[in-house]
Amino acid sequence: MSDQEYAISEYPDALKIKEKLDKLAAQPMWELSNSYKKKVMDWWNTHCLKSKEIIEKAKKLIPGGVQHNLAFNDPWPLVITKAEGAYLYDIDGNQYIDFLQAGGPTLLGSNYKVVQEKVIELIKECGPVTGLFHEYEYKLAELINQYMPAVEMFRALGSGTEAAMAAIRVARVATNKEKIIKGGGAYHGWSDQLLFGMHIPQSGAAEAAGVPPAVFKNTQEFIPNDIEYLEKLLKKNQDKGGTACVLVEPLGGESGTIPVTKDWNKQVAELCEKYEALLIFDEVVTGFRIGMGGAQGYFGIKPDLTIFGKIIAGGYPSAGGLGGLEEYMKYVAAGVEGGKKRAYVGGTLSANPLSCCAGYWAIKEIARTKAYLKAGEAGDKLIKGLQEIIEKYNLPYVAFNHASICHLEANGLMNINLMDAVQSSQITSRKQMLHEMGAAYESEGIITLAGSRIYTSMADTDEIIKKALEGFDKVLSNVEKPK
Ligand SMILES: Cc1ncc(COP(=O)(O)O)c(C=O)c1O
Repeated sequence: MSDQEYAISEYPDALKIKEKLDKLAAQPMWELSNSYKKKVMDWWNTHCLKSKEIIEKAKKLIPGGVQHNLAFNDPWPLVITKAEGAYLYDIDGNQYIDFLQAGGPTLLGSNYKVVQEKVIELIKECGPVTGLFHEYEYKLAELINQYMPAVEMFRALGSGTEAAMAAIRVARVATNKEKIIKGGGAYHGWSDQLLFGMHIPQSGAAEAAGVPPAVFKNTQEFIPNDIEYLEKLLKKNQDKGGTACVLVEPLGGESGTIPVTKDWNKQVAELCEKYEALLIFDEVVTGFRIGMGGAQGYFGIKPDLTIFGKIIAGGYPSAGGLGGLEEYMKYVAAGVEGGKKRAYVGGTLSANPLSCCAGYWAIKEIARTKAYLKAGEAGDKLIKGLQEIIEKYNLPYVAFNHASICHLEANGLMNINLMDAVQSSQITSRKQMLHEMGAAYESEGIITLAGSRIYTSMADTDEIIKKALEGFDKVLSNVEKPK
Protein backbone atom coordinates (compact mmCIF):
# COMPACT_ATOMS: atom_id res chain seq x y z
CA MET A 1 0.00 0.00 0.00
CA SER A 2 1.29 3.47 -0.76
CA ASP A 3 1.87 6.17 1.82
CA GLN A 4 -1.08 8.16 0.51
CA GLU A 5 -3.32 5.37 1.65
CA TYR A 6 -2.59 6.02 5.29
CA ALA A 7 -4.64 8.57 7.15
CA ILE A 8 -1.87 10.28 9.13
CA SER A 9 -1.41 13.47 7.12
CA GLU A 10 1.58 14.63 9.15
CA TYR A 11 3.24 12.59 11.87
CA PRO A 12 3.21 14.67 15.06
CA ASP A 13 6.54 15.83 16.45
CA ALA A 14 6.48 13.47 19.43
CA LEU A 15 9.33 15.07 21.36
CA LYS A 16 7.89 18.56 21.03
CA ILE A 17 4.45 17.36 22.11
CA LYS A 18 5.96 15.42 24.97
CA GLU A 19 7.74 18.56 26.13
CA LYS A 20 4.45 20.47 26.11
CA LEU A 21 2.68 17.65 27.94
CA ASP A 22 5.45 17.48 30.55
CA LYS A 23 5.13 21.22 31.06
CA LEU A 24 1.37 20.92 31.37
CA ALA A 25 1.75 18.15 33.95
CA ALA A 26 4.25 20.19 35.94
CA GLN A 27 2.00 23.20 36.45
CA PRO A 28 -1.13 23.73 38.52
CA MET A 29 -4.34 22.79 36.74
CA TRP A 30 -6.19 25.28 34.58
CA GLU A 31 -9.74 24.40 35.57
CA LEU A 32 -13.27 25.45 34.71
CA SER A 33 -14.52 28.44 36.69
CA ASN A 34 -16.76 27.65 39.65
CA SER A 35 -19.66 29.57 38.11
CA TYR A 36 -19.40 27.51 34.93
CA LYS A 37 -19.10 24.27 36.89
CA LYS A 38 -22.36 25.22 38.58
CA LYS A 39 -23.97 25.86 35.18
CA VAL A 40 -22.83 22.43 34.03
CA MET A 41 -24.36 20.82 37.12
CA ASP A 42 -27.60 22.73 36.56
CA TRP A 43 -27.70 21.30 33.03
CA TRP A 44 -27.22 17.76 34.33
CA ASN A 45 -29.86 18.28 37.00
CA THR A 46 -32.41 19.44 34.47
CA HIS A 47 -31.51 17.32 31.43
CA CYS A 48 -30.29 13.94 32.64
CA LEU A 49 -32.66 12.91 35.40
CA LYS A 50 -33.89 9.67 33.82
CA SER A 51 -30.28 8.52 33.51
CA LYS A 52 -29.75 9.45 37.14
CA GLU A 53 -32.77 7.47 38.30
CA ILE A 54 -31.74 4.31 36.44
CA ILE A 55 -28.12 4.52 37.60
CA GLU A 56 -29.28 4.95 41.21
CA LYS A 57 -31.28 1.71 40.88
CA ALA A 58 -28.43 -0.02 39.03
CA LYS A 59 -26.02 0.81 41.84
CA LYS A 60 -27.85 -1.70 44.04
CA LEU A 61 -27.14 -4.54 41.62
CA ILE A 62 -24.14 -3.45 39.58
CA PRO A 63 -20.98 -2.28 41.37
CA GLY A 64 -20.84 1.50 40.98
CA GLY A 65 -23.92 1.29 38.72
CA VAL A 66 -21.88 1.05 35.55
CA GLN A 67 -19.84 -1.63 33.76
CA HIS A 68 -17.57 0.27 31.38
CA ASN A 69 -14.30 1.83 32.44
CA LEU A 70 -14.86 4.54 29.86
CA ALA A 71 -18.14 5.75 31.38
CA PHE A 72 -17.89 8.79 33.60
CA ASN A 73 -18.98 8.26 37.18
CA ASP A 74 -19.43 11.99 37.73
CA PRO A 75 -21.96 13.44 37.99
CA TRP A 76 -23.47 10.08 36.93
CA PRO A 77 -23.21 7.79 33.90
CA LEU A 78 -25.51 8.47 30.95
CA VAL A 79 -27.97 5.79 29.89
CA ILE A 80 -27.74 5.54 26.11
CA THR A 81 -30.75 4.32 24.14
CA LYS A 82 -29.87 4.99 20.52
CA ALA A 83 -26.73 5.14 18.39
CA GLU A 84 -26.72 6.26 14.80
CA GLY A 85 -23.94 7.60 12.58
CA ALA A 86 -22.12 10.36 14.41
CA TYR A 87 -24.63 10.60 17.24
CA LEU A 88 -25.59 8.96 20.50
CA TYR A 89 -28.92 9.63 22.26
CA ASP A 90 -29.62 9.18 25.94
CA ILE A 91 -32.78 8.08 27.71
CA ASP A 92 -33.67 11.72 28.44
CA GLY A 93 -33.66 12.45 24.69
CA ASN A 94 -30.39 14.41 24.57
CA GLN A 95 -28.30 14.12 21.43
CA TYR A 96 -24.51 13.91 21.60
CA ILE A 97 -21.71 13.83 19.05
CA ASP A 98 -20.05 10.49 19.66
CA PHE A 99 -16.29 10.91 19.99
CA LEU A 100 -16.04 7.92 22.31
CA GLN A 101 -16.97 5.46 19.60
CA ALA A 102 -17.32 2.69 22.15
CA GLY A 103 -13.59 3.08 22.75
CA GLY A 104 -12.67 2.78 19.08
CA PRO A 105 -14.52 0.12 17.08
CA THR A 106 -17.07 2.25 15.23
CA LEU A 107 -14.86 3.88 12.59
CA LEU A 108 -17.71 3.63 10.09
CA GLY A 109 -20.02 5.50 12.46
CA SER A 110 -22.43 3.90 14.91
CA ASN A 111 -24.79 1.14 13.90
CA TYR A 112 -23.54 1.15 10.33
CA LYS A 113 -26.25 -0.24 8.06
CA VAL A 114 -24.34 -2.63 5.78
CA VAL A 115 -22.75 -4.45 8.72
CA GLN A 116 -26.01 -4.47 10.65
CA GLU A 117 -27.90 -6.03 7.72
CA LYS A 118 -25.28 -8.73 7.17
CA VAL A 119 -25.33 -9.61 10.86
CA ILE A 120 -29.12 -9.87 10.92
CA GLU A 121 -29.04 -12.06 7.82
CA LEU A 122 -26.50 -14.34 9.47
CA ILE A 123 -28.43 -14.58 12.74
CA LYS A 124 -31.59 -15.57 10.88
CA GLU A 125 -29.68 -18.30 9.07
CA CYS A 126 -27.54 -19.93 11.76
CA GLY A 127 -27.85 -17.89 14.96
CA PRO A 128 -24.86 -16.22 16.55
CA VAL A 129 -22.95 -19.35 17.55
CA THR A 130 -22.60 -23.06 16.79
CA GLY A 131 -19.20 -23.99 18.26
CA LEU A 132 -18.18 -25.34 14.85
CA PHE A 133 -16.52 -23.77 11.83
CA HIS A 134 -18.23 -21.08 9.80
CA GLU A 135 -16.92 -19.86 6.46
CA TYR A 136 -16.78 -16.28 7.77
CA GLU A 137 -13.84 -17.32 9.95
CA TYR A 138 -11.83 -18.07 6.84
CA LYS A 139 -13.09 -15.01 5.01
CA LEU A 140 -12.09 -12.72 7.89
CA ALA A 141 -8.60 -14.25 8.19
CA GLU A 142 -8.11 -13.98 4.44
CA LEU A 143 -9.17 -10.34 4.41
CA ILE A 144 -6.82 -9.38 7.24
CA ASN A 145 -3.97 -11.22 5.53
CA GLN A 146 -4.70 -9.34 2.30
CA TYR A 147 -4.01 -6.01 4.00
CA MET A 148 -1.43 -7.09 6.57
CA PRO A 149 0.94 -9.63 5.03
CA ALA A 150 2.69 -10.19 8.40
CA VAL A 151 -0.57 -11.72 9.56
CA GLU A 152 0.07 -14.97 7.75
CA MET A 153 -2.28 -16.68 10.16
CA PHE A 154 -5.04 -15.42 12.40
CA ARG A 155 -6.91 -16.77 15.38
CA ALA A 156 -10.10 -15.02 16.51
CA LEU A 157 -10.47 -14.52 20.26
CA GLY A 158 -12.87 -12.83 22.65
CA SER A 159 -11.21 -9.46 23.26
CA GLY A 160 -8.04 -7.44 22.95
CA THR A 161 -7.16 -8.52 26.48
CA GLU A 162 -7.37 -12.18 25.50
CA ALA A 163 -5.36 -11.54 22.35
CA ALA A 164 -2.57 -9.92 24.40
CA MET A 165 -2.60 -12.88 26.82
CA ALA A 166 -2.32 -15.26 23.89
CA ALA A 167 0.46 -13.20 22.29
CA ILE A 168 2.77 -13.39 25.29
CA ARG A 169 2.04 -17.09 25.71
CA VAL A 170 2.87 -17.82 22.08
CA ALA A 171 6.04 -15.74 22.36
CA ARG A 172 7.19 -17.76 25.35
CA VAL A 173 6.38 -21.10 23.75
CA ALA A 174 8.11 -20.08 20.52
CA THR A 175 11.26 -18.65 22.10
CA ASN A 176 11.55 -20.65 25.32
CA LYS A 177 12.32 -17.34 27.00
CA GLU A 178 10.59 -15.79 29.99
CA LYS A 179 10.67 -12.00 30.23
CA ILE A 180 8.15 -9.76 28.52
CA ILE A 181 8.74 -6.04 28.04
CA LYS A 182 5.91 -3.60 27.47
CA GLY A 183 5.84 0.14 26.97
CA GLY A 184 5.60 2.31 30.07
CA GLY A 185 2.07 3.71 30.16
CA ALA A 186 0.80 1.38 27.44
CA TYR A 187 -2.47 -0.50 27.77
CA HIS A 188 -2.81 -4.06 26.57
CA GLY A 189 -5.95 -4.99 28.46
CA TRP A 190 -6.41 -6.17 32.01
CA SER A 191 -4.75 -9.57 32.24
CA ASP A 192 -2.62 -10.14 35.36
CA GLN A 193 0.82 -10.01 33.79
CA LEU A 194 0.16 -6.91 31.74
CA LEU A 195 -1.40 -4.84 34.51
CA PHE A 196 1.99 -3.21 34.86
CA GLY A 197 3.19 0.29 33.94
CA MET A 198 -0.42 1.20 33.23
CA HIS A 199 -1.35 4.68 31.97
CA ILE A 200 1.73 6.41 33.37
CA PRO A 201 5.30 5.31 32.50
CA GLN A 202 7.28 3.77 35.35
CA SER A 203 4.16 3.25 37.43
CA GLY A 204 4.96 -0.48 37.76
CA ALA A 205 2.34 -2.35 39.74
CA ALA A 206 0.55 0.80 40.97
CA GLU A 207 -2.77 -0.24 39.42
CA ALA A 208 -2.42 -3.93 40.07
CA ALA A 209 -4.39 -4.37 43.28
CA GLY A 210 -5.37 -8.03 43.49
CA VAL A 211 -2.39 -9.27 41.49
CA PRO A 212 0.31 -10.94 43.60
CA PRO A 213 3.72 -9.23 43.07
CA ALA A 214 5.23 -12.57 42.01
CA VAL A 215 3.12 -12.39 38.83
CA PHE A 216 5.32 -9.53 37.68
CA LYS A 217 8.57 -11.45 38.10
CA ASN A 218 8.93 -11.51 34.33
CA THR A 219 7.14 -8.31 33.29
CA GLN A 220 9.14 -5.16 32.61
CA GLU A 221 8.38 -1.76 31.11
CA PHE A 222 10.51 0.33 28.79
CA ILE A 223 10.66 4.12 28.88
CA PRO A 224 9.11 5.47 25.68
CA ASN A 225 11.65 7.05 23.29
CA ASP A 226 14.59 5.82 25.38
CA ILE A 227 16.12 3.12 23.19
CA GLU A 228 19.23 2.78 25.32
CA TYR A 229 17.11 1.90 28.32
CA LEU A 230 15.33 -0.80 26.31
CA GLU A 231 18.63 -2.24 25.15
CA LYS A 232 19.86 -2.30 28.74
CA LEU A 233 16.83 -4.35 29.75
CA LEU A 234 17.27 -6.75 26.85
CA LYS A 235 20.96 -7.17 27.62
CA LYS A 236 20.36 -7.78 31.33
CA ASN A 237 17.64 -10.30 30.56
CA GLN A 238 19.97 -12.43 28.45
CA ASP A 239 21.24 -14.42 31.41
CA LYS A 240 17.99 -14.17 33.37
CA GLY A 241 15.68 -16.29 31.25
CA GLY A 242 15.86 -14.12 28.13
CA THR A 243 13.25 -11.82 26.60
CA ALA A 244 10.39 -13.60 24.89
CA CYS A 245 8.84 -10.46 23.43
CA VAL A 246 8.56 -6.70 23.36
CA LEU A 247 5.02 -5.35 23.07
CA VAL A 248 4.35 -1.94 21.61
CA GLU A 249 1.39 0.28 21.11
CA PRO A 250 2.85 1.59 17.85
CA LEU A 251 1.76 5.23 18.26
CA GLY A 252 2.85 5.25 21.89
CA GLY A 253 1.14 4.33 25.15
CA GLU A 254 -2.61 4.84 25.46
CA SER A 255 -3.01 5.23 21.71
CA GLY A 256 -0.39 7.92 21.42
CA THR A 257 -1.22 9.86 24.58
CA ILE A 258 2.42 9.21 25.43
CA PRO A 259 3.68 9.82 21.89
CA VAL A 260 6.69 8.11 20.35
CA THR A 261 8.92 9.38 17.56
CA LYS A 262 8.34 8.17 14.03
CA ASP A 263 11.44 5.98 14.02
CA TRP A 264 10.80 4.48 17.46
CA ASN A 265 9.15 1.28 16.23
CA LYS A 266 11.98 0.63 13.77
CA GLN A 267 14.52 1.01 16.56
CA VAL A 268 12.55 -1.42 18.72
CA ALA A 269 12.27 -3.87 15.81
CA GLU A 270 16.04 -3.79 15.32
CA LEU A 271 16.67 -4.53 18.98
CA CYS A 272 14.14 -7.37 18.91
CA GLU A 273 16.02 -8.91 16.03
CA LYS A 274 19.37 -8.44 17.77
CA TYR A 275 18.20 -10.03 21.02
CA GLU A 276 15.92 -12.61 19.35
CA ALA A 277 12.78 -11.44 21.09
CA LEU A 278 9.48 -11.43 19.24
CA LEU A 279 8.10 -8.02 18.31
CA ILE A 280 4.41 -7.74 19.11
CA PHE A 281 2.36 -4.90 17.68
CA ASP A 282 -0.82 -4.10 19.57
CA GLU A 283 -3.09 -2.89 16.78
CA VAL A 284 -6.29 -3.00 18.82
CA VAL A 285 -6.82 0.71 18.12
CA THR A 286 -4.60 1.36 15.10
CA GLY A 287 -5.65 -1.65 13.02
CA PHE A 288 -7.69 -0.42 10.01
CA ARG A 289 -8.09 2.97 11.72
CA ILE A 290 -4.94 4.63 10.43
CA GLY A 291 -5.02 2.69 7.18
CA MET A 292 -5.84 -0.77 5.89
CA GLY A 293 -2.28 -1.90 6.57
CA GLY A 294 -2.50 -0.74 10.20
CA ALA A 295 0.42 0.82 12.03
CA GLN A 296 2.70 -1.96 10.74
CA GLY A 297 1.99 -0.89 7.18
CA TYR A 298 2.39 2.77 8.02
CA PHE A 299 5.74 2.28 9.75
CA GLY A 300 6.88 -0.38 7.26
CA ILE A 301 7.49 -3.05 9.91
CA LYS A 302 6.70 -6.75 9.89
CA PRO A 303 5.87 -7.65 13.48
CA ASP A 304 6.11 -11.28 14.55
CA LEU A 305 2.71 -11.14 16.18
CA THR A 306 -0.19 -8.68 16.04
CA ILE A 307 -2.87 -8.16 18.65
CA PHE A 308 -6.32 -7.20 17.35
CA GLY A 309 -9.54 -6.03 19.00
CA LYS A 310 -12.29 -3.47 18.51
CA ILE A 311 -12.69 -2.98 14.72
CA ILE A 312 -11.91 -6.67 14.14
CA ALA A 313 -15.54 -7.42 15.04
CA GLY A 314 -16.95 -4.26 13.47
CA GLY A 315 -18.36 -2.95 16.75
CA TYR A 316 -20.01 -6.29 17.59
CA PRO A 317 -19.10 -8.57 20.53
CA SER A 318 -16.08 -10.89 20.77
CA ALA A 319 -13.68 -8.34 19.37
CA GLY A 320 -10.26 -9.91 19.61
CA GLY A 321 -7.73 -11.85 17.65
CA LEU A 322 -4.08 -12.79 17.36
CA GLY A 323 -2.29 -12.80 14.05
CA GLY A 324 1.28 -13.29 12.95
CA LEU A 325 3.89 -15.28 11.16
CA GLU A 326 3.09 -18.94 10.57
CA GLU A 327 6.19 -20.13 12.44
CA TYR A 328 4.73 -18.67 15.65
CA MET A 329 1.00 -18.86 15.01
CA LYS A 330 1.24 -22.62 14.50
CA TYR A 331 1.39 -22.92 18.29
CA VAL A 332 -2.25 -21.87 18.69
CA ALA A 333 -3.72 -24.58 16.50
CA ALA A 334 -7.05 -25.70 17.95
CA GLY A 335 -9.21 -28.79 17.68
CA VAL A 336 -9.31 -32.01 19.68
CA GLU A 337 -5.75 -33.05 19.08
CA GLY A 338 -3.13 -33.93 21.69
CA GLY A 339 0.59 -34.36 21.98
CA LYS A 340 1.83 -31.22 20.27
CA LYS A 341 3.69 -28.33 21.87
CA ARG A 342 0.92 -25.83 22.18
CA ALA A 343 0.18 -22.36 23.54
CA TYR A 344 -3.22 -23.08 24.99
CA VAL A 345 -5.94 -20.60 24.11
CA GLY A 346 -9.67 -21.06 23.97
CA GLY A 347 -13.07 -19.44 24.34
CA THR A 348 -16.57 -20.85 23.92
CA LEU A 349 -17.76 -17.86 21.95
CA SER A 350 -14.47 -17.00 20.25
CA ALA A 351 -14.54 -17.01 16.44
CA ASN A 352 -18.32 -17.17 16.45
CA PRO A 353 -20.03 -16.57 13.11
CA LEU A 354 -21.59 -13.29 14.22
CA SER A 355 -18.30 -11.59 15.18
CA CYS A 356 -16.51 -12.92 12.12
CA CYS A 357 -19.32 -11.80 9.81
CA ALA A 358 -19.42 -8.33 11.43
CA GLY A 359 -15.63 -8.00 11.29
CA TYR A 360 -15.46 -9.16 7.71
CA TRP A 361 -18.10 -6.73 6.48
CA ALA A 362 -16.79 -3.84 8.58
CA ILE A 363 -13.27 -4.25 7.16
CA LYS A 364 -14.67 -4.65 3.63
CA GLU A 365 -16.67 -1.46 4.06
CA ILE A 366 -13.74 0.43 5.61
CA ALA A 367 -11.71 -0.45 2.51
CA ARG A 368 -14.50 0.34 0.06
CA THR A 369 -15.38 3.71 1.59
CA LYS A 370 -11.82 4.62 2.68
CA ALA A 371 -13.36 5.35 6.06
CA TYR A 372 -9.90 5.73 7.66
CA LEU A 373 -9.13 8.68 5.35
CA LYS A 374 -12.50 10.35 5.96
CA ALA A 375 -12.25 9.88 9.72
CA GLY A 376 -8.62 11.04 9.60
CA GLU A 377 -9.55 14.23 7.77
CA ALA A 378 -12.25 14.89 10.37
CA GLY A 379 -9.61 14.37 13.08
CA ASP A 380 -7.22 16.80 11.39
CA LYS A 381 -9.93 19.47 11.12
CA LEU A 382 -11.03 19.00 14.68
CA ILE A 383 -7.50 19.26 16.05
CA LYS A 384 -6.71 22.32 13.96
CA GLY A 385 -9.87 23.96 15.34
CA LEU A 386 -9.02 22.94 18.90
CA GLN A 387 -5.50 24.31 18.56
CA GLU A 388 -6.99 27.64 17.44
CA ILE A 389 -9.34 27.70 20.42
CA ILE A 390 -6.48 26.88 22.80
CA GLU A 391 -4.49 29.74 21.32
CA LYS A 392 -7.45 32.12 21.41
CA TYR A 393 -7.91 31.61 25.15
CA ASN A 394 -4.18 31.38 25.82
CA LEU A 395 -4.42 27.98 27.49
CA PRO A 396 -1.53 25.58 28.12
CA TYR A 397 -3.71 22.68 26.86
CA VAL A 398 -2.27 20.41 24.16
CA ALA A 399 -4.21 19.13 21.15
CA PHE A 400 -2.69 16.69 18.67
CA ASN A 401 -3.66 13.68 16.61
CA HIS A 402 -2.65 10.71 14.57
CA ALA A 403 -5.47 10.84 12.00
CA SER A 404 -8.76 9.89 13.72
CA ILE A 405 -7.05 9.26 17.07
CA CYS A 406 -7.15 12.69 18.69
CA HIS A 407 -6.07 14.08 22.02
CA LEU A 408 -7.20 17.14 23.92
CA GLU A 409 -4.97 17.17 26.97
CA ALA A 410 -6.12 19.52 29.71
CA ASN A 411 -3.75 18.52 32.50
CA GLY A 412 -1.21 15.98 31.20
CA LEU A 413 -2.37 13.26 33.59
CA MET A 414 -0.68 10.36 31.78
CA ASN A 415 2.54 12.29 31.38
CA ILE A 416 3.07 13.21 34.99
CA ASN A 417 6.50 12.53 36.38
CA LEU A 418 6.18 9.97 39.15
CA MET A 419 9.63 10.86 40.45
CA ASP A 420 8.26 14.30 41.31
CA ALA A 421 6.51 14.24 44.69
CA VAL A 422 4.10 17.09 43.89
CA GLN A 423 3.08 15.66 40.52
CA SER A 424 2.64 12.13 41.80
CA SER A 425 0.41 13.39 44.62
CA GLN A 426 -1.95 14.93 42.04
CA ILE A 427 -3.13 11.81 40.20
CA THR A 428 -6.55 11.79 41.87
CA SER A 429 -7.19 15.51 41.53
CA ARG A 430 -6.14 15.47 37.87
CA LYS A 431 -8.45 12.52 37.21
CA GLN A 432 -11.26 14.42 38.92
CA MET A 433 -10.63 17.44 36.74
CA LEU A 434 -10.94 15.27 33.63
CA HIS A 435 -14.29 14.04 34.95
CA GLU A 436 -15.38 17.65 35.21
CA MET A 437 -14.16 18.45 31.72
CA GLY A 438 -15.96 15.38 30.36
CA ALA A 439 -19.20 16.34 32.09
CA ALA A 440 -18.90 19.89 30.70
CA TYR A 441 -18.33 18.59 27.16
CA GLU A 442 -21.39 16.39 27.59
CA SER A 443 -23.45 19.38 28.65
CA GLU A 444 -22.44 20.88 25.30
CA GLY A 445 -23.50 17.75 23.44
CA ILE A 446 -20.12 16.05 23.06
CA ILE A 447 -19.08 12.66 24.42
CA THR A 448 -15.32 12.14 24.69
CA LEU A 449 -13.24 9.24 25.92
CA ALA A 450 -12.32 9.99 29.52
CA GLY A 451 -12.45 13.74 28.94
CA SER A 452 -9.25 13.81 26.94
CA ARG A 453 -9.35 11.43 23.96
CA ILE A 454 -11.46 11.84 20.88
CA TYR A 455 -12.04 9.28 18.15
CA THR A 456 -13.47 10.63 14.93
CA SER A 457 -15.38 8.43 12.50
CA MET A 458 -16.39 8.45 8.86
CA ALA A 459 -19.72 9.90 9.98
CA ASP A 460 -18.07 13.11 11.21
CA THR A 461 -18.92 15.55 8.44
CA ASP A 462 -17.64 19.12 8.31
CA GLU A 463 -20.92 20.21 9.81
CA ILE A 464 -20.47 17.90 12.79
CA ILE A 465 -16.88 19.03 13.34
CA LYS A 466 -18.05 22.67 13.22
CA LYS A 467 -20.78 21.93 15.76
CA ALA A 468 -18.30 20.10 17.98
CA LEU A 469 -15.84 22.98 17.84
CA GLU A 470 -18.57 25.38 18.93
CA GLY A 471 -19.22 23.15 21.93
CA PHE A 472 -15.54 22.82 22.81
CA ASP A 473 -15.16 26.59 22.43
CA LYS A 474 -17.91 27.22 24.96
CA VAL A 475 -16.30 24.91 27.51
CA LEU A 476 -12.74 26.14 26.98
CA SER A 477 -13.82 29.78 27.18
CA ASN A 478 -14.67 29.06 30.82
CA VAL A 479 -11.23 27.77 31.83
CA GLU A 480 -9.45 29.91 34.40
CA LYS A 481 -5.79 30.53 34.99
CA PRO A 482 -4.83 29.01 38.37
CA LYS A 483 -4.61 31.56 41.17
C1 LIG B 1 -4.20 -0.72 22.72
C2 LIG B 1 -5.17 -1.62 23.41
N1 LIG B 1 -4.84 -2.90 23.61
C3 LIG B 1 -5.68 -3.76 24.22
C4 LIG B 1 -6.91 -3.35 24.66
C5 LIG B 1 -7.83 -4.32 25.35
O1 LIG B 1 -8.87 -4.68 24.50
P1 LIG B 1 -10.25 -5.19 25.11
O2 LIG B 1 -10.89 -4.03 25.79
O3 LIG B 1 -11.01 -5.68 23.93
O4 LIG B 1 -9.94 -6.28 26.05
C6 LIG B 1 -7.31 -2.02 24.47
C7 LIG B 1 -8.61 -1.54 24.94
O5 LIG B 1 -8.93 -0.39 24.99
C8 LIG B 1 -6.40 -1.12 23.83
O6 LIG B 1 -6.72 0.17 23.64
